[in-house]
Amino acid sequence: MFTAVANRNLKEHNANFGSSIAENIDFLTAENQFVDLLNLDNLDQQVNQSPQRVESLEAAIAAALSLAYGDPAQPGDDTAHRFLQRILYRINRLNLFWYDSLNHYKNERSFYLQWLRDRIESVWQTWELKQLDIEQLQQQPVQQTLRAWYETDLDPEITDNKRFLRDELDREGYRRLLAIASLDGLVEASRMSRILGGASNEVQATLIRVLLEEYGNGRLARKHSTFFAKMMADMHLNTQAEGYFDLAPWQLLASINHNFLLTECKRYFLRYNGGLTYFEIAGPSIYTDYLIAAQRLNLSEDSSGYWALHIKEDERHGLWMLEDVALPLAEQYPDQAWELLLGYAQEKLIGDRAGNAIIQQIRQATEPLPAIVSPSLPEATTR
Ligand SMILES: [Fe+2]
Ligand SMILES: [Fe+2]
Repeated sequence: MFTAVANRNLKEHNANFGSSIAENIDFLTAENQFVDLLNLDNLDQQVNQSPQRVESLEAAIAAALSLAYGDPAQPGDDTAHRFLQRILYRINRLNLFWYDSLNHYKNERSFYLQWLRDRIESVWQTWELKQLDIEQLQQQPVQQTLRAWYETDLDPEITDNKRFLRDELDREGYRRLLAIASLDGLVEASRMSRILGGASNEVQATLIRVLLEEYGNGRLARKHSTFFAKMMADMHLNTQAEGYFDLAPWQLLASINHNFLLTECKRYFLRYNGGLTYFEIAGPSIYTDYLIAAQRLNLSEDSSGYWALHIKEDERHGLWMLEDVALPLAEQYPDQAWELLLGYAQEKLIGDRAGNAIIQQIRQATEPLPAIVSPSLPEATTR
């Protein structure tokens, strides 16, 4: 299913994005090649036996890495970023189960895929770290800084983006916002599930409590993603997971891929939890902008219920993350505690970058997204 959707999406993607950079690098053909590789039987064996099969893909990746991340002081080429983040996403998504054909997972442990992922991630992550002043972060008093950041990010200043969302976003813009955000919203908290297993303590118990709320305590009707799907259905959007993959700007894919990296590597446990602390703290303020837009547009409660729910729940989650996860972890790991700050600051930077890109796309969009009648969904309920 994903392959069929992906191939169709790629054709649309070809039409929409063309080649805006060095003409002799065809990232779209390379991405198509990569999608075909994912579906090969015995991928590793085939690559070993006929390495020429992946020559042009690897050349495209090498070119993209230098175009996107060659100079940390520069933003890099958008098409190259997009190509690399889409490849990474297609590898990372295999960590989750999508209730599709089991055949789609036959290469999930392929050495070649791991090698490709590491190759892209290592260059990308080095570039990403250079966007922050690490030394300065290492010198901050961790617990004090976390508390100060909590206060600031709970109630941030009104920026141009926030003003745009509150005052100007129109109905089509709102639909596009939901469509783009659905890449994460429809599978919300899935990556978090990857960090929960292991030794028992208060930190673990709190994390499980957060996850249980995200998952509606095991009731589909109360699961946060159900509220997201409900909003989409109400706005006549496709509620299938990854249905709007092609709309995702690279900045959003990078945010999701970064999260995959931190949840899959236990060495980054502190960074992940620092990031999740920011995410939960910042939620209510971001969702308030969306809710104000929905109310101004006179949308139904179903079309905005997810935001209202999160304003309430994330206020609690943010505090739990600070008091019962981040601060205790800082105490348990004094030498690495600064990594909580790194995770927090990175989540904010990467999240803001994605938010800016999404708003830019909404402002530039000229065509409305097609109206879709979705199959009926479970009733979303808070009880
Ligand atoms: Fe949630
Ligand atoms: Fe939450």
